[in-house]
Amino acid sequence: MKKQDKKMDLMSKLVSLCKRRGFLFQSSEIYGGLNSFYDYGPLGVELKNNIKRLWWKEMVQKRSDILGFDSSILMHPKIWEASGHLKSFTDPLVDCKKCKKRFRADHLLIPSSVKPDLGTMKQKPKEEPVVCPDCGGELTEERKFNLMFKTFMGPIEEESAVVYLRPETAQGIFVNFKNVKDSMRMKLPFGIAQIGKSFRNEVTPGNFIFRTREFEQMECEYFCSPKDSDKYYRYWLDQRLKWYIDVLNIKKENLRLRDHEKDELAHYAKACSDIEYNFPFAGWSELEGVSNRRDFDLSQHSKFSGENLDYTDETGNKFIPYVIEPSAGADRSTLAVLVDAYTEIKGGRTETTESVKDLEVVMKFDKKIAPVKVAVLPLSKKEELTKPALDIFDSLRQNWFCQYDATGSIGKRYRRQDEIGTPYCVTVDFETQNDKAVTVRDRDTMKQERIKLAELINYFKDKLE
Ligand code: GAP
Repeated sequence: MKKQDKKMDLMSKLVSLCKRRGFLFQSSEIYGGLNSFYDYGPLGVELKNNIKRLWWKEMVQKRSDILGFDSSILMHPKIWEASGHLKSFTDPLVDCKKCKKRFRADHLLIPSSVKPDLGTMKQKPKEEPVVCPDCGGELTEERKFNLMFKTFMGPIEEESAVVYLRPETAQGIFVNFKNVKDSMRMKLPFGIAQIGKSFRNEVTPGNFIFRTREFEQMECEYFCSPKDSDKYYRYWLDQRLKWYIDVLNIKKENLRLRDHEKDELAHYAKACSDIEYNFPFAGWSELEGVSNRRDFDLSQHSKFSGENLDYTDETGNKFIPYVIEPSAGADRSTLAVLVDAYTEIKGGRTETTESVKDLEVVMKFDKKIAPVKVAVLPLSKKEELTKPALDIFDSLRQNWFCQYDATGSIGKRYRRQDEIGTPYCVTVDFETQNDKAVTVRDRDTMKQERIKLAELINYFKDKLE
């Protein structure tokens, strides 16, 4: 198999595992699906929630200089005029005159080493269109297409009732800068962080949950004085890269930083870098952008709303703060974590006497991220094992998300848990009644330990927390 085919094969195996094991489903599947929309299943929602919780812990809970926030999705339409989204949040579109397929002109032209998603209003290298990559047909002239989803507020669908689904969570923070600063008596530098849904009518969504039309962002706007902005830009780049390595435990070799070229920068940005992951289907692609947005957004909102958004420092000096913005995608982090954890073991693992399969899959999630932390497996369905096993399950799930599985051979059940990345399995056997102990099996080492029931909770507290 060619290298590229192998990579796509891995991706289709991962997509199929996600569906089979309850991580992700195509949205509206029984109606034939809705292109580029996905639903998170019972394990997927745990996985994504764990990632979001770890982001919140790092960005808000552990810091005294950043506060949490949750703004509404629909906001005053003037916000999008001020931010420039109404005018400039567009993608260049071309259609093939022959096969009628639609493309983003910039995707046809830019070399693959340049990141495909330049997000909000970022400039692209300019070249002349080529031909249709599918059929070689002639392409139409490039035209601009605004990516914001429009809807109407109230019962009458008229121009004055138009509102937009936010294309980024950031603007909800900028327009509340003064509210947060005054109500919480904040001094520079300080940040406001939020996690929430954003919507973009992407021309070419795709690659599973990499680029969708509805997605979740984890954004922080860190306000500082203009003279400190270079320092905090470097600081945030460093902090954010560390988060993927140290907290999400993503393999270092699959991550890199890429500074934007001058002609790639958004008109408002002084500097911007992407944290990229080496995705098997697309190569190096953006997980998160860190930008120095200068005072662009606060100045624009001050101008359009008439509200004074100045900051007065201790010497009485008034200025509009600069903003450093680490902006991450919760869905892209989830996809990176899934890809990174996916491990195939050729020839299977030989811990049982069962016929060994050719290939076993272990999702080697970091314990903090794994959706299910512990699985409780009674060796038989007999009452004498079911009762203590259910008691153990009940006590463990007061602390962690756990699964109970009594179906099939113990080997099969271990395999099922490996495939969803459960770090520990607890086996309740016929000795349990006598020695008041269970066997704990570790996903990665497959080592088994006998642990006393009275010590089980503390044992897992040590291992999982
Ligand atoms: N406030 C700045 C901003 O929105 P961006 O680079 O357009 O910048 C930030 O988006 C992050 O949001 C990206 O790094 C990516 O992780 C995520 N993102 C953007 N568009 C997305 C889409 N269509 N589907 C999934 N995630 C997306």
